[in-house]
Amino acid sequence: MTRVTITHAVVITLTATFLLLAADRAGELRKNRSAYVPPARPAAVAPPAVDADKGKPPPHSDSVDDLPEGKGREATFYTCTACHGVALIKAQGLTRDLWDSTFDLMLERHKMAPVKPTERAEILDYLAEQFPPRRKGRGGDNPFLK
Ligand code: HEC
Repeated sequence: MTRVTITHAVVITLTATFLLLAADRAGELRKNRSAYVPPARPAAVAPPAVDADKGKPPPHSDSVDDLPEGKGREATFYTCTACHGVALIKAQGLTRDLWDSTFDLMLERHKMAPVKPTERAEILDYLAEQFPPRRKGRGGDNPFLK
């Protein structure tokens, strides 16, 4: 009969442990473990189509009161703030002709819905009246700018 020494016992125990660990890592010992299922990725977010935005609230929280009072304010607000706030409009100071070009730009480049001619005229009058070209320079009569 073989004499089992302490050394033998240690070597056998360690070997058995390593074999068991290796088998476990390889999945041999727990076959019924449910496989890891990665969470479903959300589908790529498609950019919103222009038409999909119809009827949705505008991308700002401006109201009619954010435009200065005057004839044509409502028409301007409801025509011109479907896509952007009033800040973009107020930041401009243009002649009626240039507002007219801006209007065309919104229609052609940005696909603004068509506007009735009478309404267009009212809006252009309002824009030209409320947001005319500004004087050059902050001081207007700044002597250093002459
Ligand atoms: C269908 C959407 C839409 C409508 C309606 C619309 N705009 Fe715009 N507007 C845009 C887009 C898009 C831009 C570009 C935004 C930017 O440059 O960040 C823009 C930009 C502008 C700018 C800035 C241009 C510049 O050079 O900085 C002004 C001014 C402007 N719009 C005025 C108007 C006016 C006035 C109306 C109403 C007559 C109007 N917009 C209606 C989409 C629209």
